[in-house]
Amino acid sequence: MVDHYQRFDLSNKVAVVTGASEGIGRDIAIGLAEAGADVIVCSRREAKLLEVKEIVERNGRRAETCVVDLRNVADIQSLKAFVKATTGKVDILVNNAGYAVTKPAWEVSENDWDTMVDTGFKGLFFCCQAIGSIMGEHGYGKIINLSSTFSESIVPGRSVYGGIKAGINHLTEALAMEWAPHGIRVNALAPTAVNTPSRQSTLQGPILEKVLARIPLGRLATPDDLIGAVIFLASAASDFVTGQTLFVDGGWVAAS
Ligand SMILES: NC(=O)c1ccc[n+]([C@@H]2O[C@H](COP(=O)([O-])OP(=O)(O)OC[C@H]3O[C@@H](n4cnc5c(N)ncnc54)[C@H](OP(=O)(O)O)[C@@H]3O)[C@@H](O)[C@H]2O)c1
Repeated sequence: MVDHYQRFDLSNKVAVVTGASEGIGRDIAIGLAEAGADVIVCSRREAKLLEVKEIVERNGRRAETCVVDLRNVADIQSLKAFVKATTGKVDILVNNAGYAVTKPAWEVSENDWDTMVDTGFKGLFFCCQAIGSIMGEHGYGKIINLSSTFSESIVPGRSVYGGIKAGINHLTEALAMEWAPHGIRVNALAPTAVNTPSRQSTLQGPILEKVLARIPLGRLATPDDLIGAVIFLASAASDFVTGQTLFVDGGWVAAS
């Protein structure tokens, strides 16, 4: 008989989490470790990554840090080499790192575009390719790409960011199809506004009121709201799920 609850357990799994120094990625790394996984946490700020490593190790799991700037494919290749040298395998990749600019489309600069696209789309694709190739060697893997409600619903000031997230949903489906024969499941997780440090200055006053009015469950998400969905998509419990975008949005998209 199948032990259904056991299928959520991530013991003996290795997870790579990008953008794990702060916000959602930090909590995802800690949540995956609580479910049993060892984690490799990456971003540009080593001191912040070391704080996450300490929390994970205090909870009895292994954690390694890898400093990468995801805008550079060479750094992503170094991440791949680091994974091969330290754990030799990887079961889970959470492509969480992203960068958001909120501006009228008229005012988006080349630098805004390059930073958003290179971090959130180019970096995500090459992480899928580099870490996915290690998964392919073992014939199993779970990739989770961070999307957003803005991939589906239109919000002024988020044209480029929403375009990237819509692209991520599409890329998720495309990679799921290409890599199913290699045992790699590729899904996206699409939260609504999450109360993270980088969003606290924008999620205030009238903007906050407008956002809350679009969420039927009547509140912002917290990173904790996402962890159950991430564990599900990372675990054997979702082995027959691929190419999906899972909205964890308090009903935002359904109501749009
Ligand atoms: N917060 C929300 O309301 C919300 C809603 C829907 C979707 N999302 C998505 O969820 C993800 C996380 O959001 P968040 O609010 O937690 O973001 P955040 O607080 O701004 O954190 C972003 C993370 O990405 C890392 N990062 C940024 N640029 C990088 C680069 N060039 N190379 C490597 N790492 C880089 C940052 O670390 P370093 O600075 O150390 O490099 C940080 O750890 C993003 O993909 C975002 O689009 C967020």
